[in-house]
Amino acid sequence: MCGIVGYVGERNAAPIIVEGLKCLEYRGYDSFGLAVADGTATDGGGKLTVVKKQGRISDAGSDVSLACGNIGIGHTRWATHGVPSDVNAHPHTDCTGDIAVVHNGIIENYAELKKTLIAEGHVFKSETDTEVIAHLLEKFRNAAAEKGLSGIEKVDFAVKNLMDTLEGSFALLILIRGFNGLIAIKRFSPLVLGIGDDELFASSDMTPILEHTQKILFLEDNDYAYLMPDGIRLFGYPSAKTVERDVKTVDWDVESAKKGGYEYFMEKEIFEQPAVFVNSFRQKIDDGAVSVLKKASSITVVACGSSYHAGLIFRYLMEKYCKIPVRVEIASEFLNFTTAKGTVVIAVTQSGETADTLAALRHAKANGCPVFAVTNVLGSSVTRIADYVLYTRAGPEISVAATKSFIAQCAVLLRIVSIIGKGIFEKELFEIYPVLEETLLFDPADASAVCKDAENIFYVGRGVYYPISLEGALKMKEITYIHAEGCAAGELKHGPFSLLTPKTPVVAVCTKDDAYPVMISNIKEMKARGAPVIAIGSGGDADLKEIADIFIPLPRSKNICEVISATIILQMIAYNTAVLLGRDVDKPRNLAKSVTVI
Ligand code: G6P
Repeated sequence: MCGIVGYVGERNAAPIIVEGLKCLEYRGYDSFGLAVADGTATDGGGKLTVVKKQGRISDAGSDVSLACGNIGIGHTRWATHGVPSDVNAHPHTDCTGDIAVVHNGIIENYAELKKTLIAEGHVFKSETDTEVIAHLLEKFRNAAAEKGLSGIEKVDFAVKNLMDTLEGSFALLILIRGFNGLIAIKRFSPLVLGIGDDELFASSDMTPILEHTQKILFLEDNDYAYLMPDGIRLFGYPSAKTVERDVKTVDWDVESAKKGGYEYFMEKEIFEQPAVFVNSFRQKIDDGAVSVLKKASSITVVACGSSYHAGLIFRYLMEKYCKIPVRVEIASEFLNFTTAKGTVVIAVTQSGETADTLAALRHAKANGCPVFAVTNVLGSSVTRIADYVLYTRAGPEISVAATKSFIAQCAVLLRIVSIIGKGIFEKELFEIYPVLEETLLFDPADASAVCKDAENIFYVGRGVYYPISLEGALKMKEITYIHAEGCAAGELKHGPFSLLTPKTPVVAVCTKDDAYPVMISNIKEMKARGAPVIAIGSGGDADLKEIADIFIPLPRSKNICEVISATIILQMIAYNTAVLLGRDVDKPRNLAKSVTVI
Protein backbone atom coordinates (compact mmCIF):
# COMPACT_ATOMS: atom_id res chain seq x y z
CA MET A 1 0.00 0.00 0.00
CA CYS A 2 1.31 3.44 -0.95
CA GLY A 3 -0.26 6.87 -1.30
CA ILE A 4 -0.32 8.94 -4.48
CA VAL A 5 -1.44 12.49 -5.12
CA GLY A 6 -1.62 14.80 -8.14
CA TYR A 7 -2.42 18.44 -8.91
CA VAL A 8 -3.20 20.49 -12.03
CA GLY A 9 -4.04 24.18 -11.68
CA GLU A 10 -2.68 27.67 -11.47
CA ARG A 11 -0.87 27.33 -8.16
CA ASN A 12 2.63 25.98 -7.57
CA ALA A 13 2.03 22.23 -7.35
CA ALA A 14 4.87 21.17 -5.01
CA PRO A 15 3.56 22.56 -1.67
CA ILE A 16 0.09 21.14 -2.41
CA ILE A 17 1.59 17.73 -3.20
CA VAL A 18 3.73 17.79 -0.04
CA GLU A 19 0.74 18.61 2.19
CA GLY A 20 -1.29 15.93 0.39
CA LEU A 21 1.36 13.29 0.98
CA LYS A 22 1.39 14.12 4.69
CA CYS A 23 -2.32 13.17 4.78
CA LEU A 24 -1.51 9.85 3.08
CA GLU A 25 1.37 8.81 5.31
CA TYR A 26 -0.86 6.27 7.03
CA ARG A 27 -0.64 4.34 3.72
CA GLY A 28 3.14 4.11 3.87
CA TYR A 29 6.04 6.26 4.93
CA ASP A 30 9.41 4.70 4.10
CA SER A 31 10.21 7.12 1.26
CA PHE A 32 8.60 9.92 -0.70
CA GLY A 33 8.97 11.77 -3.96
CA LEU A 34 7.36 14.16 -6.37
CA ALA A 35 7.62 15.26 -9.98
CA VAL A 36 6.56 18.69 -11.11
CA ALA A 37 6.14 19.96 -14.66
CA ASP A 38 5.54 23.44 -15.91
CA GLY A 39 2.43 23.04 -17.96
CA THR A 40 3.00 25.86 -20.36
CA ALA A 41 5.13 23.96 -22.83
CA THR A 42 3.96 22.25 -25.98
CA ASP A 43 4.91 18.71 -27.04
CA GLY A 44 8.66 18.29 -26.75
CA GLY A 45 9.32 21.36 -24.59
CA GLY A 46 8.91 22.23 -20.93
CA LYS A 47 10.67 21.17 -17.78
CA LEU A 48 10.09 18.17 -15.53
CA THR A 49 11.73 18.10 -12.09
CA VAL A 50 11.89 15.00 -9.91
CA VAL A 51 12.79 15.02 -6.20
CA LYS A 52 12.73 11.75 -4.23
CA LYS A 53 14.24 10.43 -1.03
CA GLN A 54 14.18 7.69 1.55
CA GLY A 55 12.47 8.87 4.73
CA ARG A 56 9.23 10.57 5.65
CA ILE A 57 7.62 13.42 3.77
CA SER A 58 7.43 15.34 7.06
CA ASP A 59 11.26 15.46 6.95
CA ALA A 60 11.38 16.69 3.36
CA GLY A 61 12.34 20.26 4.34
CA SER A 62 13.80 22.38 1.57
CA ASP A 63 14.42 19.40 -0.77
CA VAL A 64 11.20 20.06 -2.59
CA SER A 65 11.66 23.80 -3.12
CA LEU A 66 13.56 23.01 -6.34
CA ALA A 67 10.38 21.71 -7.94
CA CYS A 68 8.51 24.55 -9.63
CA GLY A 69 5.51 24.20 -11.89
CA ASN A 70 1.75 23.95 -11.79
CA ILE A 71 1.29 20.26 -12.61
CA GLY A 72 2.60 17.70 -10.14
CA ILE A 73 2.43 14.14 -8.84
CA GLY A 74 3.70 12.69 -5.56
CA HIS A 75 4.08 9.41 -3.74
CA THR A 76 4.56 8.16 -0.20
CA ARG A 77 5.86 4.62 -0.21
CA TRP A 78 5.37 1.35 1.62
CA ALA A 79 7.95 -0.82 -0.09
CA THR A 80 6.87 -4.03 -1.83
CA HIS A 81 9.52 -4.49 -4.54
CA GLY A 82 12.97 -3.13 -3.66
CA VAL A 83 14.07 -1.94 -0.23
CA PRO A 84 13.34 1.59 0.95
CA SER A 85 16.03 3.80 -0.67
CA ASP A 86 16.38 7.03 -2.62
CA VAL A 87 16.56 5.18 -5.92
CA ASN A 88 13.56 2.94 -5.25
CA ALA A 89 11.43 5.91 -4.16
CA HIS A 90 8.81 7.08 -6.68
CA PRO A 91 8.40 8.81 -9.14
CA HIS A 92 10.13 6.50 -11.60
CA THR A 93 11.29 7.77 -14.94
CA ASP A 94 12.02 6.33 -18.38
CA CYS A 95 15.43 6.40 -20.10
CA THR A 96 14.92 9.96 -21.37
CA GLY A 97 13.67 11.43 -18.09
CA ASP A 98 10.61 12.79 -19.95
CA ILE A 99 8.09 10.51 -18.26
CA ALA A 100 7.49 10.30 -14.51
CA VAL A 101 5.18 7.74 -12.88
CA VAL A 102 3.84 7.22 -9.36
CA HIS A 103 2.09 3.95 -8.59
CA ASN A 104 0.07 2.28 -5.86
CA GLY A 105 -0.42 -1.45 -6.36
CA ILE A 106 1.55 -4.39 -7.67
CA ILE A 107 2.51 -5.17 -11.26
CA GLU A 108 2.36 -8.96 -11.29
CA ASN A 109 4.08 -9.47 -14.65
CA TYR A 110 6.83 -6.89 -14.08
CA ALA A 111 9.69 -9.43 -14.09
CA GLU A 112 8.94 -10.65 -17.66
CA LEU A 113 8.32 -7.08 -18.85
CA LYS A 114 11.57 -5.87 -17.33
CA LYS A 115 13.53 -8.64 -19.03
CA THR A 116 12.06 -7.77 -22.42
CA LEU A 117 12.59 -4.04 -21.98
CA ILE A 118 16.24 -4.56 -20.96
CA ALA A 119 16.74 -6.75 -24.03
CA GLU A 120 15.32 -3.88 -26.09
CA GLY A 121 17.92 -1.53 -24.64
CA HIS A 122 16.10 0.18 -21.77
CA VAL A 123 18.24 0.99 -18.75
CA PHE A 124 16.68 0.45 -15.34
CA LYS A 125 17.72 2.36 -12.23
CA SER A 126 15.59 0.80 -9.50
CA GLU A 127 14.50 -2.64 -8.24
CA THR A 128 10.81 -1.68 -8.32
CA ASP A 129 7.97 -3.17 -10.32
CA THR A 130 6.81 0.38 -11.10
CA GLU A 131 9.76 1.37 -13.25
CA VAL A 132 8.57 -0.91 -16.08
CA ILE A 133 5.59 1.44 -16.51
CA ALA A 134 7.80 4.43 -17.35
CA HIS A 135 9.82 2.40 -19.86
CA LEU A 136 6.71 0.86 -21.42
CA LEU A 137 5.26 4.33 -21.93
CA GLU A 138 8.53 5.43 -23.55
CA LYS A 139 8.38 2.41 -25.87
CA PHE A 140 4.73 2.93 -26.81
CA ARG A 141 5.22 6.68 -27.38
CA ASN A 142 8.09 5.88 -29.72
CA ALA A 143 5.89 3.37 -31.53
CA ALA A 144 3.14 6.00 -31.79
CA ALA A 145 5.61 8.52 -33.23
CA GLU A 146 6.68 5.95 -35.82
CA LYS A 147 3.04 5.66 -36.85
CA GLY A 148 2.97 9.43 -37.32
CA LEU A 149 0.85 10.13 -34.22
CA SER A 150 1.45 13.21 -32.09
CA GLY A 151 -0.09 15.22 -29.25
CA ILE A 152 -3.10 13.62 -27.55
CA GLU A 153 -3.28 10.75 -30.09
CA LYS A 154 0.22 9.72 -29.10
CA VAL A 155 -0.80 9.73 -25.43
CA ASP A 156 -3.98 7.74 -26.22
CA PHE A 157 -1.96 5.12 -28.05
CA ALA A 158 0.56 4.77 -25.22
CA VAL A 159 -2.09 4.54 -22.47
CA LYS A 160 -4.17 1.96 -24.35
CA ASN A 161 -1.10 -0.21 -24.97
CA LEU A 162 0.05 0.20 -21.39
CA MET A 163 -3.32 -1.00 -20.06
CA ASP A 164 -3.21 -3.95 -22.49
CA THR A 165 0.21 -4.95 -21.18
CA LEU A 166 0.07 -4.53 -17.40
CA GLU A 167 -1.23 -7.30 -15.13
CA GLY A 168 -2.00 -6.73 -11.48
CA SER A 169 -3.32 -3.78 -9.55
CA PHE A 170 -2.47 -0.18 -10.17
CA ALA A 171 -3.50 3.38 -9.51
CA LEU A 172 -1.17 5.50 -11.60
CA LEU A 173 -0.45 9.18 -12.00
CA ILE A 174 1.79 10.04 -14.93
CA LEU A 175 3.51 13.22 -16.08
CA ILE A 176 4.96 13.51 -19.58
CA ARG A 177 7.23 16.42 -20.36
CA GLY A 178 5.39 18.78 -22.69
CA PHE A 179 1.95 17.19 -22.11
CA ASN A 180 -0.11 19.93 -20.54
CA GLY A 181 -1.82 17.82 -17.92
CA LEU A 182 -1.54 14.61 -15.97
CA ILE A 183 -2.75 11.11 -16.70
CA ALA A 184 -4.64 9.10 -14.07
CA ILE A 185 -5.32 5.37 -14.48
CA LYS A 186 -7.13 3.01 -12.11
CA ARG A 187 -7.31 -0.79 -11.99
CA PHE A 188 -7.99 -2.54 -8.65
CA SER A 189 -6.25 0.14 -6.55
CA PRO A 190 -8.03 3.20 -5.19
CA LEU A 191 -7.98 6.54 -7.01
CA VAL A 192 -10.29 9.53 -6.67
CA LEU A 193 -10.35 12.91 -8.39
CA GLY A 194 -11.20 16.28 -6.85
CA ILE A 195 -12.75 19.12 -8.79
CA GLY A 196 -11.95 22.60 -7.52
CA ASP A 197 -12.35 26.07 -9.01
CA ASP A 198 -9.97 26.05 -11.97
CA GLU A 199 -7.92 23.24 -10.43
CA LEU A 200 -8.01 19.46 -10.32
CA PHE A 201 -6.70 16.91 -7.84
CA ALA A 202 -6.07 13.17 -7.86
CA SER A 203 -5.35 11.00 -4.85
CA SER A 204 -5.48 7.49 -3.33
CA ASP A 205 -8.21 8.76 -1.05
CA MET A 206 -9.98 12.05 -0.55
CA THR A 207 -8.01 13.23 2.51
CA PRO A 208 -5.53 15.45 0.64
CA ILE A 209 -8.33 16.87 -1.51
CA LEU A 210 -10.91 17.87 1.11
CA GLU A 211 -8.99 20.94 2.19
CA HIS A 212 -9.33 22.30 -1.36
CA THR A 213 -12.70 21.02 -2.56
CA GLN A 214 -15.54 18.77 -1.46
CA LYS A 215 -16.41 17.74 -5.02
CA ILE A 216 -15.12 14.20 -5.45
CA LEU A 217 -15.27 11.96 -8.49
CA PHE A 218 -14.76 8.26 -7.74
CA LEU A 219 -13.04 6.51 -10.64
CA GLU A 220 -14.05 2.94 -11.45
CA ASP A 221 -11.70 0.10 -12.37
CA ASN A 222 -10.26 0.48 -15.86
CA ASP A 223 -11.11 4.18 -16.02
CA TYR A 224 -8.41 6.52 -17.23
CA ALA A 225 -8.47 10.28 -17.22
CA TYR A 226 -6.54 13.24 -18.53
CA LEU A 227 -6.54 16.08 -16.02
CA MET A 228 -5.98 19.22 -18.10
CA PRO A 229 -6.08 22.88 -17.12
CA ASP A 230 -9.45 23.18 -18.90
CA GLY A 231 -11.06 20.10 -17.29
CA ILE A 232 -11.15 16.32 -17.02
CA ARG A 233 -11.42 13.94 -19.96
CA LEU A 234 -12.56 10.58 -18.69
CA PHE A 235 -12.49 7.30 -20.63
CA GLY A 236 -13.19 3.61 -20.09
CA TYR A 237 -10.80 0.83 -21.05
CA PRO A 238 -10.83 -1.08 -23.40
CA SER A 239 -13.51 0.86 -25.32
CA ALA A 240 -11.55 4.15 -25.13
CA LYS A 241 -14.99 5.81 -25.13
CA THR A 242 -15.89 8.74 -22.90
CA VAL A 243 -17.54 7.65 -19.64
CA GLU A 244 -19.59 9.65 -17.13
CA ARG A 245 -19.07 9.31 -13.37
CA ASP A 246 -21.08 11.09 -10.69
CA VAL A 247 -19.39 13.90 -8.84
CA LYS A 248 -20.31 13.66 -5.14
CA THR A 249 -20.15 16.38 -2.53
CA VAL A 250 -18.37 14.94 0.50
CA ASP A 251 -18.53 16.68 3.85
CA TRP A 252 -16.24 14.36 5.84
CA ASP A 253 -13.46 15.74 7.98
CA VAL A 254 -9.90 14.67 7.17
CA GLU A 255 -9.62 12.21 10.09
CA SER A 256 -12.72 10.24 9.13
CA ALA A 257 -11.65 10.34 5.50
CA LYS A 258 -8.30 8.77 6.44
CA LYS A 259 -10.24 5.94 8.00
CA GLY A 260 -12.32 5.67 4.82
CA GLY A 261 -15.43 6.55 6.83
CA TYR A 262 -14.83 3.73 9.33
CA GLU A 263 -14.82 4.67 12.99
CA TYR A 264 -11.43 3.12 13.73
CA PHE A 265 -8.46 1.94 11.71
CA MET A 266 -9.05 -1.57 13.07
CA GLU A 267 -12.46 -1.68 11.39
CA LYS A 268 -11.00 -0.37 8.13
CA GLU A 269 -8.21 -2.93 8.29
CA ILE A 270 -10.70 -5.76 8.92
CA PHE A 271 -12.57 -4.68 5.80
CA GLU A 272 -9.40 -4.62 3.69
CA GLN A 273 -8.83 -8.32 4.31
CA PRO A 274 -10.35 -9.87 1.17
CA ALA A 275 -7.84 -7.98 -1.02
CA VAL A 276 -4.99 -8.44 1.46
CA PHE A 277 -5.49 -12.21 1.57
CA VAL A 278 -5.64 -12.54 -2.21
CA ASN A 279 -2.60 -10.28 -2.81
CA SER A 280 -0.57 -12.13 -0.20
CA PHE A 281 -1.54 -15.61 -1.39
CA ARG A 282 -1.15 -15.01 -5.11
CA GLN A 283 2.48 -13.96 -5.08
CA LYS A 284 5.19 -16.08 -6.58
CA ILE A 285 7.71 -17.59 -4.16
CA ASP A 286 11.34 -17.60 -5.22
CA ASP A 287 12.49 -20.97 -6.63
CA GLY A 288 15.51 -21.10 -4.29
CA ALA A 289 13.25 -20.69 -1.25
CA VAL A 290 10.84 -23.33 -2.54
CA SER A 291 13.62 -25.87 -3.03
CA VAL A 292 14.95 -25.34 0.53
CA LEU A 293 11.42 -25.75 1.94
CA LYS A 294 10.82 -28.89 -0.12
CA LYS A 295 13.99 -30.47 1.25
CA ALA A 296 13.23 -29.63 4.90
CA SER A 297 13.07 -32.63 7.22
CA SER A 298 11.25 -30.47 9.75
CA ILE A 299 10.24 -26.84 10.19
CA THR A 300 10.28 -24.68 13.32
CA VAL A 301 8.34 -21.42 13.47
CA VAL A 302 9.38 -18.70 15.91
CA ALA A 303 7.07 -15.76 16.58
CA CYS A 304 5.20 -13.66 19.15
CA GLY A 305 1.57 -12.64 19.66
CA SER A 306 -0.73 -13.03 16.70
CA SER A 307 2.20 -14.07 14.52
CA TYR A 308 2.69 -17.06 16.84
CA HIS A 309 -0.93 -18.04 16.25
CA ALA A 310 -0.39 -17.83 12.48
CA GLY A 311 2.52 -20.24 13.00
CA LEU A 312 0.25 -22.67 14.89
CA ILE A 313 -2.31 -22.62 12.05
CA PHE A 314 0.53 -23.39 9.65
CA ARG A 315 1.53 -26.33 11.83
CA TYR A 316 -1.89 -27.96 11.69
CA LEU A 317 -2.15 -27.63 7.93
CA MET A 318 1.44 -28.53 7.10
CA GLU A 319 1.44 -31.62 9.27
CA LYS A 320 -1.95 -32.78 8.01
CA TYR A 321 -1.52 -32.14 4.31
CA CYS A 322 2.25 -32.25 3.74
CA LYS A 323 3.32 -34.67 6.51
CA ILE A 324 6.24 -32.47 7.50
CA PRO A 325 6.80 -32.14 11.28
CA VAL A 326 6.39 -28.51 12.39
CA ARG A 327 7.28 -27.07 15.78
CA VAL A 328 6.03 -23.63 16.78
CA GLU A 329 7.84 -21.78 19.55
CA ILE A 330 7.14 -18.51 21.32
CA ALA A 331 10.21 -16.53 20.28
CA SER A 332 11.08 -15.40 23.82
CA GLU A 333 11.34 -19.06 24.93
CA PHE A 334 13.23 -20.35 21.93
CA LEU A 335 16.72 -19.74 23.31
CA ASN A 336 16.04 -22.54 25.83
CA PHE A 337 15.79 -25.12 23.07
CA THR A 338 17.99 -26.80 20.52
CA THR A 339 17.17 -27.16 16.87
CA ALA A 340 18.44 -30.02 14.77
CA LYS A 341 20.54 -29.18 11.72
CA GLY A 342 18.43 -29.57 8.60
CA THR A 343 15.47 -27.94 10.29
CA VAL A 344 14.23 -24.90 8.45
CA VAL A 345 13.41 -22.07 10.86
CA ILE A 346 10.78 -19.50 9.89
CA ALA A 347 10.37 -16.25 11.80
CA VAL A 348 6.87 -14.83 11.38
CA THR A 349 6.77 -11.15 12.25
CA GLN A 350 4.58 -8.36 10.94
CA SER A 351 6.98 -5.59 11.85
CA GLY A 352 10.20 -7.48 11.25
CA GLU A 353 11.52 -5.72 14.35
CA THR A 354 10.26 -7.75 17.34
CA ALA A 355 13.37 -8.16 19.49
CA ASP A 356 12.56 -11.68 20.73
CA THR A 357 11.85 -12.92 17.21
CA LEU A 358 15.10 -11.44 15.90
CA ALA A 359 17.05 -13.04 18.75
CA ALA A 360 15.39 -16.42 18.07
CA LEU A 361 16.24 -16.24 14.38
CA ARG A 362 19.87 -15.31 15.09
CA HIS A 363 20.04 -18.28 17.48
CA ALA A 364 18.73 -20.63 14.77
CA LYS A 365 21.16 -19.22 12.22
CA ALA A 366 24.05 -19.70 14.63
CA ASN A 367 22.94 -23.36 14.93
CA GLY A 368 23.39 -23.71 11.17
CA CYS A 369 19.70 -23.81 10.22
CA PRO A 370 18.47 -22.23 6.98
CA VAL A 371 16.36 -19.27 8.17
CA PHE A 372 13.30 -17.69 6.57
CA ALA A 373 11.32 -14.58 7.44
CA VAL A 374 7.65 -13.93 6.75
CA THR A 375 7.22 -10.21 7.27
CA ASN A 376 5.18 -7.21 6.21
CA VAL A 377 8.00 -4.66 6.17
CA LEU A 378 10.50 -4.64 3.35
CA GLY A 379 14.01 -3.91 4.52
CA SER A 380 13.11 -4.50 8.20
CA SER A 381 15.74 -6.00 10.54
CA VAL A 382 14.50 -9.57 10.08
CA THR A 383 15.08 -9.35 6.33
CA ARG A 384 18.76 -8.72 6.97
CA ILE A 385 19.12 -11.85 9.12
CA ALA A 386 17.03 -14.25 7.04
CA ASP A 387 18.40 -16.28 4.12
CA TYR A 388 15.00 -16.10 2.40
CA VAL A 389 12.22 -13.54 2.83
CA LEU A 390 8.54 -13.97 1.98
CA TYR A 391 6.48 -10.82 2.15
CA THR A 392 2.93 -10.41 3.36
CA ARG A 393 1.05 -7.82 1.32
CA ALA A 394 -0.99 -6.16 4.06
CA GLY A 395 0.30 -2.60 3.70
CA PRO A 396 0.83 -0.56 6.85
CA GLU A 397 -1.33 -1.58 9.77
CA ILE A 398 -2.13 1.34 12.04
CA SER A 399 -4.27 -0.31 14.71
CA VAL A 400 -2.21 -2.00 17.44
CA ALA A 401 -4.31 -5.17 17.28
CA ALA A 402 -3.19 -7.23 14.29
CA THR A 403 -5.98 -8.12 11.86
CA LYS A 404 -5.07 -7.78 8.20
CA SER A 405 -1.39 -8.52 8.89
CA PHE A 406 -2.45 -11.79 10.58
CA ILE A 407 -4.66 -12.75 7.64
CA ALA A 408 -1.76 -11.91 5.30
CA GLN A 409 0.56 -14.17 7.32
CA CYS A 410 -1.99 -16.98 7.08
CA ALA A 411 -2.12 -16.39 3.31
CA VAL A 412 1.66 -16.61 2.84
CA LEU A 413 1.95 -19.65 5.12
CA LEU A 414 -0.94 -21.30 3.28
CA ARG A 415 0.91 -20.58 0.06
CA ILE A 416 3.82 -22.60 1.41
CA VAL A 417 1.43 -25.45 2.32
CA SER A 418 -0.04 -25.26 -1.15
CA ILE A 419 3.36 -25.36 -2.86
CA ILE A 420 4.75 -28.19 -0.73
CA GLY A 421 1.39 -29.96 -0.95
CA LYS A 422 1.54 -29.95 -4.78
CA GLY A 423 -1.16 -27.36 -5.37
CA ILE A 424 -3.51 -28.29 -2.53
CA PHE A 425 -6.02 -25.49 -1.75
CA GLU A 426 -4.70 -23.40 -4.62
CA LYS A 427 -7.98 -23.25 -6.53
CA GLU A 428 -10.12 -22.61 -3.43
CA LEU A 429 -7.84 -19.88 -2.14
CA PHE A 430 -7.41 -18.17 -5.51
CA GLU A 431 -11.19 -17.85 -5.51
CA ILE A 432 -11.73 -16.89 -1.87
CA TYR A 433 -12.37 -13.16 -2.44
CA PRO A 434 -16.21 -13.29 -2.69
CA VAL A 435 -16.35 -15.64 0.32
CA LEU A 436 -14.47 -13.11 2.43
CA GLU A 437 -16.60 -10.24 1.11
CA GLU A 438 -19.69 -12.18 2.18
CA THR A 439 -18.11 -12.84 5.60
CA LEU A 440 -17.86 -9.09 6.14
CA LEU A 441 -21.65 -8.79 5.90
CA PHE A 442 -21.87 -10.46 9.34
CA ASP A 443 -23.57 -8.36 12.02
CA PRO A 444 -21.80 -8.98 15.35
CA ALA A 445 -24.46 -7.16 17.44
CA ASP A 446 -26.00 -10.24 19.14
CA ALA A 447 -22.67 -11.90 19.98
CA SER A 448 -21.19 -8.63 21.26
CA ALA A 449 -24.23 -7.95 23.42
CA VAL A 450 -23.49 -11.23 25.26
CA CYS A 451 -19.72 -10.69 25.44
CA LYS A 452 -19.72 -7.11 26.64
CA ASP A 453 -21.23 -7.99 30.04
CA ALA A 454 -18.96 -10.98 30.66
CA GLU A 455 -15.91 -10.98 32.94
CA ASN A 456 -14.49 -14.13 31.35
CA ILE A 457 -14.98 -15.59 27.91
CA PHE A 458 -13.75 -18.95 26.65
CA TYR A 459 -12.89 -19.62 23.04
CA VAL A 460 -12.75 -23.25 22.01
CA GLY A 461 -11.95 -25.22 18.89
CA ARG A 462 -10.30 -28.40 17.72
CA GLY A 463 -7.58 -28.90 15.12
CA VAL A 464 -6.83 -25.74 13.19
CA TYR A 465 -9.65 -24.01 15.08
CA TYR A 466 -7.67 -24.29 18.31
CA PRO A 467 -5.11 -21.63 17.26
CA ILE A 468 -7.94 -19.64 15.72
CA SER A 469 -9.62 -19.72 19.14
CA LEU A 470 -6.37 -18.48 20.71
CA GLU A 471 -6.32 -15.60 18.23
CA GLY A 472 -10.02 -14.83 18.83
CA ALA A 473 -9.39 -14.68 22.58
CA LEU A 474 -6.30 -12.51 22.11
CA LYS A 475 -8.27 -10.00 20.00
CA MET A 476 -11.03 -9.90 22.61
CA LYS A 477 -8.73 -9.40 25.61
CA GLU A 478 -6.38 -6.87 24.06
CA ILE A 479 -9.00 -4.40 22.88
CA THR A 480 -11.91 -4.93 25.35
CA TYR A 481 -9.89 -5.70 28.53
CA ILE A 482 -12.25 -8.64 29.20
CA HIS A 483 -10.40 -11.75 30.29
CA ALA A 484 -10.61 -14.19 27.39
CA GLU A 485 -8.96 -17.56 27.12
CA GLY A 486 -8.52 -19.82 24.13
CA CYS A 487 -8.61 -23.57 24.82
CA ALA A 488 -8.35 -26.76 22.85
CA ALA A 489 -11.94 -27.98 23.18
CA GLY A 490 -10.76 -31.33 24.55
CA GLU A 491 -8.82 -29.62 27.35
CA LEU A 492 -11.77 -27.78 28.85
CA LYS A 493 -12.71 -30.73 31.01
CA HIS A 494 -9.16 -30.86 32.45
CA GLY A 495 -9.60 -27.67 34.47
CA PRO A 496 -11.42 -24.75 32.86
CA PHE A 497 -14.76 -26.59 33.23
CA SER A 498 -14.77 -25.55 36.89
CA LEU A 499 -15.07 -21.94 35.76
CA LEU A 500 -18.10 -22.42 33.52
CA THR A 501 -21.29 -20.73 34.72
CA PRO A 502 -24.22 -18.96 33.03
CA LYS A 503 -22.01 -15.86 33.16
CA THR A 504 -19.09 -17.29 31.16
CA PRO A 505 -19.89 -17.27 27.46
CA VAL A 506 -18.11 -19.82 25.29
CA VAL A 507 -17.32 -18.99 21.70
CA ALA A 508 -17.05 -22.34 19.91
CA VAL A 509 -15.77 -22.72 16.37
CA CYS A 510 -17.29 -25.88 14.96
CA THR A 511 -17.34 -26.32 11.21
CA LYS A 512 -18.19 -29.55 9.43
CA ASP A 513 -14.66 -30.89 9.35
CA ASP A 514 -13.22 -34.14 10.78
CA ALA A 515 -13.61 -32.91 14.36
CA TYR A 516 -17.28 -31.99 13.97
CA PRO A 517 -18.96 -34.89 15.85
CA VAL A 518 -16.72 -34.60 18.88
CA MET A 519 -17.00 -30.79 18.90
CA ILE A 520 -20.78 -31.14 19.00
CA SER A 521 -20.44 -33.41 22.08
CA ASN A 522 -18.08 -30.85 23.69
CA ILE A 523 -20.55 -28.02 23.06
CA LYS A 524 -23.34 -30.07 24.67
CA GLU A 525 -21.12 -30.62 27.72
CA MET A 526 -20.54 -26.86 28.02
CA LYS A 527 -24.24 -26.16 27.65
CA ALA A 528 -24.91 -28.69 30.41
CA ARG A 529 -22.75 -26.53 32.75
CA GLY A 530 -24.99 -23.56 31.94
CA ALA A 531 -22.54 -21.61 29.76
CA PRO A 532 -24.10 -19.59 26.95
CA VAL A 533 -22.63 -20.82 23.66
CA ILE A 534 -21.92 -18.62 20.66
CA ALA A 535 -21.23 -21.14 17.89
CA ILE A 536 -19.55 -20.31 14.60
CA GLY A 537 -20.24 -23.08 12.11
CA SER A 538 -20.77 -24.06 8.52
CA GLY A 539 -23.64 -22.30 6.73
CA GLY A 540 -26.86 -24.32 6.93
CA ASP A 541 -25.86 -26.44 9.94
CA ALA A 542 -29.32 -26.91 11.50
CA ASP A 543 -28.02 -29.18 14.31
CA LEU A 544 -25.51 -26.64 15.58
CA LYS A 545 -28.10 -23.88 15.29
CA GLU A 546 -30.41 -25.95 17.47
CA ILE A 547 -27.81 -26.46 20.23
CA ALA A 548 -26.22 -22.99 20.32
CA ASP A 549 -27.60 -19.91 22.01
CA ILE A 550 -26.30 -17.82 19.14
CA PHE A 551 -25.42 -19.49 15.84
CA ILE A 552 -23.19 -17.67 13.38
CA PRO A 553 -23.24 -19.37 9.97
CA LEU A 554 -20.14 -18.95 7.79
CA PRO A 555 -20.61 -18.36 4.06
CA ARG A 556 -20.97 -21.70 2.30
CA SER A 557 -17.50 -22.54 1.01
CA LYS A 558 -14.72 -25.09 1.17
CA ASN A 559 -13.29 -26.07 4.61
CA ILE A 560 -10.06 -24.16 4.04
CA CYS A 561 -11.96 -20.95 3.25
CA GLU A 562 -14.00 -21.37 6.44
CA VAL A 563 -10.73 -21.19 8.41
CA ILE A 564 -10.18 -17.63 7.16
CA SER A 565 -13.85 -16.62 7.41
CA ALA A 566 -14.08 -17.82 11.02
CA THR A 567 -11.02 -15.74 11.95
CA ILE A 568 -12.61 -12.62 10.48
CA ILE A 569 -15.87 -13.28 12.39
CA LEU A 570 -13.90 -13.47 15.67
CA GLN A 571 -12.15 -10.18 14.86
CA MET A 572 -15.51 -8.53 14.16
CA ILE A 573 -17.01 -9.74 17.46
CA ALA A 574 -14.00 -8.42 19.42
CA TYR A 575 -14.03 -5.10 17.56
CA ASN A 576 -17.73 -4.54 18.04
CA THR A 577 -17.57 -5.45 21.74
CA ALA A 578 -14.73 -2.96 22.27
CA VAL A 579 -16.75 -0.23 20.55
CA LEU A 580 -19.80 -1.02 22.74
CA LEU A 581 -17.57 -0.71 25.81
CA GLY A 582 -16.18 2.62 24.59
CA ARG A 583 -12.57 1.40 24.44
CA ASP A 584 -9.78 3.20 22.62
CA VAL A 585 -9.84 0.48 19.96
CA ASP A 586 -6.79 1.42 17.89
CA LYS A 587 -4.58 2.12 20.91
CA PRO A 588 -5.38 -0.32 23.70
CA ARG A 589 -3.83 0.54 27.04
CA ASN A 590 -0.32 -0.73 27.83
CA LEU A 591 0.25 -2.25 24.39
CA ALA A 592 2.57 -1.34 21.53
CA LYS A 593 2.42 -2.24 17.86
CA SER A 594 6.03 -3.25 17.70
CA VAL A 595 7.91 -4.61 20.71
CA THR A 596 11.59 -3.88 20.13
CA VAL A 597 12.83 -4.70 23.62
CA ILE A 598 13.40 -8.12 25.16
C1 G6P B 1 2.86 -6.88 19.52
C2 G6P B 1 1.65 -6.51 18.70
C3 G6P B 1 0.94 -7.78 18.20
C4 G6P B 1 1.92 -8.63 17.42
C5 G6P B 1 3.18 -8.93 18.23
C6 G6P B 1 4.26 -9.54 17.37
O1 G6P B 1 2.47 -7.51 20.70
O2 G6P B 1 0.74 -5.76 19.48
O3 G6P B 1 -0.15 -7.44 17.39
O4 G6P B 1 1.29 -9.82 17.03
O5 G6P B 1 3.74 -7.73 18.78
O6 G6P B 1 4.67 -8.57 16.45
P1 G6P B 1 5.36 -8.89 15.08
O7 G6P B 1 5.61 -7.54 14.46
O8 G6P B 1 6.63 -9.62 15.38
O9 G6P B 1 4.41 -9.72 14.29
